[in-house]
Amino acid sequence: MVELREKEYTTLLTIEKLGGNASVEEIMKQSGLPDATIMRAALTLQKEKLGEIHEEKQTTVRLNEEGRFHAKKGLPERRLINSLIKLGGKTSLKKAVEDAKLEKKFVPIALGWLRRKNWAIPDTKTSTLQLLETPEKEGTDERLLRVLMEKKVLGRQTVAEDLSLELQSAVKILKKRQLLEINQKTRRTIEITEAGWKKIRKGIRVTNEVTQLTPELIITGKWRKTKLTKFDVTAPGPVVYPAKVHPVQQIIQTVKEIFAEMGFTEIRGPIVETTFWNFDALFQPQDHPAREMHDTFYLGYPKTGKLPKKSTVNNVAKTHENGWKTSSKGWQYSWSSKEAKKLVLRTHTTATTIRYLAEHKEPPVKVFSVDRVFRNEKMDYKSLAEFHQIEGIIMDNNVTLRDLIGTLKKFYLKLGLKKVRFWPSYFPYTEPSAQSTVYIPEFKKWFELCGMGMFRPEVLAPLGIKYPVLAWGGGLERLIMLKLGLDDIRLLYKNNLNWIRRTPTCQ
Ligand code: PHE
Repeated sequence: MVELREKEYTTLLTIEKLGGNASVEEIMKQSGLPDATIMRAALTLQKEKLGEIHEEKQTTVRLNEEGRFHAKKGLPERRLINSLIKLGGKTSLKKAVEDAKLEKKFVPIALGWLRRKNWAIPDTKTSTLQLLETPEKEGTDERLLRVLMEKKVLGRQTVAEDLSLELQSAVKILKKRQLLEINQKTRRTIEITEAGWKKIRKGIRVTNEVTQLTPELIITGKWRKTKLTKFDVTAPGPVVYPAKVHPVQQIIQTVKEIFAEMGFTEIRGPIVETTFWNFDALFQPQDHPAREMHDTFYLGYPKTGKLPKKSTVNNVAKTHENGWKTSSKGWQYSWSSKEAKKLVLRTHTTATTIRYLAEHKEPPVKVFSVDRVFRNEKMDYKSLAEFHQIEGIIMDNNVTLRDLIGTLKKFYLKLGLKKVRFWPSYFPYTEPSAQSTVYIPEFKKWFELCGMGMFRPEVLAPLGIKYPVLAWGGGLERLIMLKLGLDDIRLLYKNNLNWIRRTPTCQ
């Protein structure tokens, strides 16, 4: 005789009561057992060949809030066309919108659909609307809206059973218009098998198993006679998503820890910066293309900020104009303090390190920053207008480019990036300058990560710094993409819950 545990027996009898085939929801309702228990019992029943689990994917369709709004009021294009017809078939756009009492945000949508449905043509030059053809009373999209409004939910069985083919195609259109809430579920039913019925008729013994070993069982010695439930530790349990730190914040934390391990101290600086620190102090001429509006966000209000002390400003001015004491010729133009006062959102964190150096002229200096920078760039899969930069500097007696290369190699190694190459490069503020590229096996490619170099005399002398300074900096998001194998940078800031849940903790 088969032996079943109590919950399995209850489940089986409940299915029997429900006619031999029932969904998990129905069994839950009838028996009061939680669904995880029923599923576990179902697995045992299946293993014992007493029951069989059937799975069926189920799609439900209902209107979302905007969908319900349009279902009540009519689609925006319908409201507009009704007014247009009422006003004689040709009228100013303004009049038609007023007559339809169309909300402002729906006007572009209404115009787009009037054109697509070939109902009317909006003339943007004269701002008039011209009727093309009188539309049928109700389009299939509108019919679907009405059906959904009446029925509330479609697809308790399947959408295909609920809807005609014509209306099924309208689901696609309304889905694109983002008026629907579409959910996918798996519906599970459990059916008693032939063998199951036979066993029920013959009788089933229920074992009294104990799932928890209590102190009482131990003290009284009853445990000796008790049958303890075997646990299947391989059985799938419910998925839990504990709170976690966002992947971007995780990498920021890792990078900061690496810097700290290597003996660096963190510094921070203002996000709103004068062009003096963002550009001038870094020996970037005032007509440098990177300063132009398409790259840099200039502040509208307040427009200007404060310059540092006069002698510093003068030294920087003279260095730009003729090289001052640096034996350079400078950029040979007339430097403007007005230009240098302009406020920008910092375009790189080198603004922050140079600001710090101006206040800390004695070695050793070993500082870093991981912070936000801004560039007026179009957002796409590889660029953001707001992102993070990693930046480090070392000032000490006799440090050389070799030290910089060694430091960066170590930094990358700690991040798990082993293959690194260095190329000559150019930055207005460093000489020599280099670019580091790292090899990412997952992508089978080399990627540029950090710019680097030794600050030029034209940068150091005006600030009164007499020691060599090594500097490097680069984008943080780039690094995260490489580490996580992403091909679209925007994913990092979409707050797509599924992606955040799926993304493992980065080391
Ligand atoms: N500031 C540079 C950038 O934004 C990087 C850099 C930092 C280059 C320090 C050289 C030295 O790309």
